[in-house]
Amino acid sequence: MNRKPYVYITRKLPEQIVNKIKSFANVGMWEWEDKPVPRSVLLEESRKADALFTMLSDPIDEEIYTDAKKLKVVANLAVGYDNIDINGATRRGIAVCHTPDILTETTADLAFSLIMMVARRLGEAIEYVKKGKWTSWSPLLLAGADVHHKTLGIVGMGKIGEAVARRASGFQMNVLYNNRHRKLEAEKQLAVEYRPFEALIEESDFVLCLTPLTEETRNLFTYDVFKKMKKTAYFINVGRGRVVVEKDLIRALQEGEIAGAGLDVFENEPIGADHPLLKFPNVVALPHIGSASMETRLAMMDRSVENIKRVLDGKRPISIVNPEIYE
Ligand code: DGY
Repeated sequence: MNRKPYVYITRKLPEQIVNKIKSFANVGMWEWEDKPVPRSVLLEESRKADALFTMLSDPIDEEIYTDAKKLKVVANLAVGYDNIDINGATRRGIAVCHTPDILTETTADLAFSLIMMVARRLGEAIEYVKKGKWTSWSPLLLAGADVHHKTLGIVGMGKIGEAVARRASGFQMNVLYNNRHRKLEAEKQLAVEYRPFEALIEESDFVLCLTPLTEETRNLFTYDVFKKMKKTAYFINVGRGRVVVEKDLIRALQEGEIAGAGLDVFENEPIGADHPLLKFPNVVALPHIGSASMETRLAMMDRSVENIKRVLDGKRPISIVNPEIYE
């Protein structure tokens, strides 16, 4: 009889998801605290595993691969995979899978929420009421900026960018985008206009960063970039924290070079309560929850389960980052 494969899950998942994996594999799971699996445990489990069900907080690198002789698939619960050494996996024929598409609309909702929050000062307003500061109506109380009819500049025009552009059209916004490749179909369908990076930065009232972290995008947003933005413009980041030089963003905020920032991602996550960005009233900070609706997170988990199952059954997974392993 064939040996049942072993799947290691690096974070506690709902029972219904674990049971799906148990129907075709033996399962181990880091379930002792809601924190990333300790490195030593991950290394030990990887040695036995046919599949790893991973999160963005798990670095999957050469050290893991070296001893993971049985490993056939790493399924990351995210569209992004900057925690994984893809080349190392490809060299060994290990499939790296992710969860694109499913989270597009949910992440676009979050991005648009951040635009609304920073412009209309909603974080400040909630605190104001909670702290009992609301004593009378006042003409300019917490007056923010309009969103409708403004210019939104999207940096990184993938599916999430397009989904944000659809939302923006309902607010009659003028949408600009910058991307590695022009998207002529999106330009036609969504009435978005391409701009070189610098022009987009200068023209936008909201600069929304949705890029993945690559060698090209790392440290893309520097002080000089923020300085080129309008002083009334907001910077929103739902891509990856390391696309921004955080100390430069802090300086730009200190010097009033931009009007505020809405951030779902940071250079080093998680950030503590003493993080300098949290001192600014005009910064809204969220704990990397772009795709975190219950429906979407469960669908992402289902996709990872399906990807793992397919690879272990000798089939191609639904969403693979390194299809060249099949060539
Ligand atoms: C992703 O899927 O890459 C997101 O950052 C997770 O929320």
